[in-house]
Amino acid sequence: MLFKDKLILDKIPRHVAIIMDGNGRWAAQFGNERTFGHEHGVEAVRSVVEGASEVGVGYLTLYAFSTENWARPKEEVDALMGLLVQSISEETDELLKSNVRLRVIGDVKSLPQNVQEKLTWSIDKLNACSGLTLVLALSYSSKWEIVEAVKRIAEQVKSGEVDPSEIDYDLMNRFLNTSDMPDPELLIRTSGECRISNFLLWQIAYSELYFTPKLWPDFRKEDLFEAIYDFQNRERRFGKTSQQLES
Ligand code: FPP
Repeated sequence: MLFKDKLILDKIPRHVAIIMDGNGRWAAQFGNERTFGHEHGVEAVRSVVEGASEVGVGYLTLYAFSTENWARPKEEVDALMGLLVQSISEETDELLKSNVRLRVIGDVKSLPQNVQEKLTWSIDKLNACSGLTLVLALSYSSKWEIVEAVKRIAEQVKSGEVDPSEIDYDLMNRFLNTSDMPDPELLIRTSGECRISNFLLWQIAYSELYFTPKLWPDFRKEDLFEAIYDFQNRERRFGKTSQQLES
């Protein structure tokens, strides 16, 4: 039986976040350059976006380029930026047909001009879509996002708009890039690495974590459904006891 058929449709996570890892190792298996892995990673992105739409995930956030990734060799960074522009150009019509909206989180202004323009073009074109929201984390890191939020709150305290006593979880949420999204209920990382790598640290406080040895270019929608199936069989206690949840 397929994992898709085992899913409980009214228990689909509203927000799934994915750390797409293993492109370089996947390429190395075939004696190829790392960029070969990134190119094939796009097929996994396509399949996962399709799958998330099919089962009614509300938000799918993909860690596509971290702040730390700028330190990679220039050729690899250029190849990734080129791939991003190409994928957005080629996939936007399909996303429109599938009613998928696009959002970006991260330091967008640090991206090359042509990437920023292509993202704006696609976001505008998909603006009226009301199905899945695909969120690309680009030039993103959680510590950067938190520091930016703290700076902006400090400015508002300085100008008298915010009183320090008003600073609480809700206020902090409002200053994050993800202010209008629910927190991820499920975080998936591929390639067997069991770490978070500066991704959505605030937002995953109570997320279920799912690690799979599959390398990202091999990941497909059925793997997403398997992760969601696993999620549906976990007990989420949010600090309470099992007995409290039962009563
Ligand atoms: C991590 O694998 C992957 C990335 C840093 C880039 C992810 C990009 C894509 C999947 C392609 C473009 C994306 C979109 C949204 C169109 P790695 O290079 O760290 O692999 P390794 O750990 O095996 O070296």
